[in-house]
Amino acid sequence: MKLILFGPPGAGKGTQAEFLSQTFSIPSISTGAIIRNAIREKTPMGIAAEKYIDEGQLVPDEVVIEIVKERISEDDCKNGYILDGFPRTLNQAVALKNMGEKIDHVIDLEVSDEDLIKRLSGRRECKSCGAPYHIKYNPPKVDGVCDKCGGTLISREDDDPETVRKRLVVYHKQTEPLKEFYKKEGLLRIVKGQEELADTKKEVLKALEVGK
Ligand code: AP5
Repeated sequence: MKLILFGPPGAGKGTQAEFLSQTFSIPSISTGAIIRNAIREKTPMGIAAEKYIDEGQLVPDEVVIEIVKERISEDDCKNGYILDGFPRTLNQAVALKNMGEKIDHVIDLEVSDEDLIKRLSGRRECKSCGAPYHIKYNPPKVDGVCDKCGGTLISREDDDPETVRKRLVVYHKQTEPLKEFYKKEGLLRIVKGQEELADTKKEVLKALEVGK
């Protein structure tokens, strides 16, 4: 199964990608996480990408397309994958299609801007393994500590309110129009973001027609 998780910043793409990855035993590929890792490791790509992330702008298409092309050619993607945060522009969507990838479903997680801002201000992520948490909606068992690896939980730098507002503008202008592209392809499945994580999971499975 090849899935795309689509939606604005904070819609829950990373959270659902992790759940679906465990459910279907296929890897989840987050372009944002790959870029943040490259920034931490100070690779040439990371150094070039940092200023875009800090400003809440998209990293250039050619960089992101190359990241995805390489990643999906790896062995663990043979039985499918979940793309979290890619594509984000029409160029990226066309490039994915030209790679010959047959996508099964595009899950569009819809949440209002007001709720997104609330979610992102309470988001925490593990510094070591990147697992996502929320101080209210998805808290760790021990405050500030990752349930999975014991790593320290931190706030992402691009979650400060000013950068979040910029990311939302970029989403509405550059990424949201892609919905029409996937609607025409007959792949778009809309899931209204729910207040409870468990409810969103159920709705996502329903949209995939594999759960109730
Ligand atoms: P990226 O890392 O992809 O960030 P994003 O798309 O802005 O999305 P987020 O990771 O902020 O949110 P999410 O939807 O994954 O939500 P989450 O599950 O964490 O990209 C970062 C940057 O990288 C971009 O700005 C860009 O610069 C660059 N980039 C990445 N891909 C690119 C591309 N293709 N092209 C160009 N540039 C690219 O959930 C959010 C919070 O809400 C969490 O705390 C979670 O616990 C909570 N939550 C989740 N679901 C629920 C629920 N149902 N109810 C209550 N709380 C919930």
